[in-house]
Amino acid sequence: MKNKIITLSVFSMLLFSGNQVNSQTVKSKKTKVTTVKSLTSKYDVQIEKLIVQMTLEEKIGMLHGNSMFSTGGVKRLGIPELKMADGPLGVREEISRDSWAPAGLTDDFATYYPAAGALAATFNQKMAYTFGNSVGQELRARDKDMLLSPAINIVRTPLGGRTYEYMTEDPFLNKKLTVPMVVGLQDNDVMACVKHFAANNQETNRDFYDVQMDERTLREIYLPAFEAAVKEAKAYSVMGAYNKFRGEYLCENDYMLNTILRDEWGFKGIVVSDWAAVHSTVKTLKNGLDIEMGTPTTKFNEFFLADKLIAAAKAGEISETEIDKHVKRILNVLFQVKAIGGKDRVKGSISTEAHYQDAYKIASEAVVLLKNEKNALPLKLDGVKSIAVIGNNATKKNALAGFGAGVKTKREITPLEGLQNRLPSYIKINYAEGYLERYEEKKTGKLGDITLSGPVTIDQLDPAKLQEAIETAKNSDMAIVFAGSNRDYETEASDRRSLKLPFGQEELINKVRAVNPNTIVVLIAGAPFDIVDLSQKSPTLVWSWFNGSEGGNALADVLLGKVNPSGKLPWTMPKKIEDSPAHATNSFPGDKTVTYKEGILVGYRWFDTKKIEPLYPFGYGLSYTSFAFENAKTDKKLYAANETIAVSVTVKNTGKVDGQEVVQLYAAKSDSKIERAAQELKGFEKVLVKAGSSETITIQVPVKELAYYNIETKKWTVEPGNYTFKLGSSSRDIKNEIQISIK
Ligand code: BGC
Repeated sequence: MKNKIITLSVFSMLLFSGNQVNSQTVKSKKTKVTTVKSLTSKYDVQIEKLIVQMTLEEKIGMLHGNSMFSTGGVKRLGIPELKMADGPLGVREEISRDSWAPAGLTDDFATYYPAAGALAATFNQKMAYTFGNSVGQELRARDKDMLLSPAINIVRTPLGGRTYEYMTEDPFLNKKLTVPMVVGLQDNDVMACVKHFAANNQETNRDFYDVQMDERTLREIYLPAFEAAVKEAKAYSVMGAYNKFRGEYLCENDYMLNTILRDEWGFKGIVVSDWAAVHSTVKTLKNGLDIEMGTPTTKFNEFFLADKLIAAAKAGEISETEIDKHVKRILNVLFQVKAIGGKDRVKGSISTEAHYQDAYKIASEAVVLLKNEKNALPLKLDGVKSIAVIGNNATKKNALAGFGAGVKTKREITPLEGLQNRLPSYIKINYAEGYLERYEEKKTGKLGDITLSGPVTIDQLDPAKLQEAIETAKNSDMAIVFAGSNRDYETEASDRRSLKLPFGQEELINKVRAVNPNTIVVLIAGAPFDIVDLSQKSPTLVWSWFNGSEGGNALADVLLGKVNPSGKLPWTMPKKIEDSPAHATNSFPGDKTVTYKEGILVGYRWFDTKKIEPLYPFGYGLSYTSFAFENAKTDKKLYAANETIAVSVTVKNTGKVDGQEVVQLYAAKSDSKIERAAQELKGFEKVLVKAGSSETITIQVPVKELAYYNIETKKWTVEPGNYTFKLGSSSRDIKNEIQISIK
């Protein structure tokens, strides 16, 4: 097995040398080293040699699925199948070759990693690299070539069924985490398949809705992470989305696949369709798709890019040269990851203790402390003999649930198990389920339906369960309620109907608190919920995620103070859904067409510009210690367009325990001649500061990062003049402002 350290690229070594990760230095350092293998053609000669020996049928066999998760190879020429696996939470269990049924293997257990929302909450590029590298190892251990991950669509509406699977509402955070994630993954001789390209921001009508948005919004909000994945991380593949963009399906969208992805960004990899997202034969191929994947209704050769393509080629509707172009791209990436001809390909390892610990590290940095008014956390155990643990979420597992890709894992530590593992044995844990996870069958639709709205929950509490919870809370020294959501409720294929907490949980929490004021509430979910009332009434509120194999241990360590929370919300928690931009502009879910009327004002950009108070702002998260920002300054006051602005600040830990703070840098241009958001994230850095001491950090902001997309010139343009840089511990807790000017 190839040593993990050796597989780290020069990029990652540079990236992670020193104590802190600087999101911007990464980029400048990265450009000095060749980190990811070039996608241009040192394999051209070998590719030509193979192509000339292939029949038309063999070539076309490589352009479509020959099983649920592979495409055809050509055995006689030593070309293997291209083997894929889902997905964002870790390497999915083996699926049957011709149906969605699990293959029923006993050696396909994998590590369940925290969902992407959790990774984003770490605000830590190092964690993104760790995630990618760790899962890349697992992918190789399963002998796969491509991971259908990361999923990097922007969180446009809090109701989006896949919010937990995506990272954030902010394009800058999105791209800064996507790059190390893809590099980490591809450092293991595998391909990332960055999905879903693009403007795929809701599940409702996802098979056919047509997204309309202006060009500037596309460039500034929805594309940056894809662009960075291609240009900086050299992602080997991209997945075409289900929906349409400006009238054309994304898997046959000439503008998106040929003009932007290949001509502008120089993408040399392959475009793979989402499952059953192809609608035509010649048009699809000509407009840029390389591989059609899907679920066979009968046989794989009935796909658009199978027998129909052979017929089209024979009828002269498409040339063999065009077909060769796509086959060559596939051969190229197979060479790149050593699937063909590679002698020392990474062998990988799976479900190892080291990988569980990777999942633990990410999980423990992802937990967000929302409220700690009475300093009830970390838990003070003096005199405590019993703790009531209440709520279905204390035992609910999320690795496999809902519709879509999960992970079959041998380890998923629940919150209850985490507490059992970490609390001293003399403390008695009294568990009560409290609320039941129940759905109305008829209204929910059958699995696989792309519903207009998600599962309908039954929100009445079961009287006996409620009574048991009340008694348990009454008879314990303190209570912790584990509430929120789960992956059956938040799921691919449907959006949620509302922000309401399901299953009668609010009533349960109120009744538990009434009998035991010493009650802490922990929410486990992947997307915003309406927690206005809960927030008012609960002095102590913690947010956790679908947080991976070690999620329960990480959570217990946060509650007990072994880990000082450092997670920050990667999206805005609105007070009500109508405050969110897609809803305020009445442009969700649309019908056949969805017009993104809010334009560039997505997420906090909307709330800040329109001066709407969120419940918890983007970038928000408390710590068990406190920080002061001192001596904030830039290296100069006036910069040219090709320069980089160095912003430094000293972070002082003014509390009693060590802790990590995420310094966030927002830029504002109040006198701009164009429409702008009130402020935009342009840099961030997580820094560990010991109690009583200080650390000085420097965030590098290339001036070009301040550019807007000029629709007239079709160029990124930096507006000269004055800018305000705001340094904060959240988007609404700005501690320093610095003025700079651009020539
Ligand atoms: C999802 C993709 C996934 C594919 C294969 C589709 O329904 O949109 O994200 O990779 O299925 O499971």
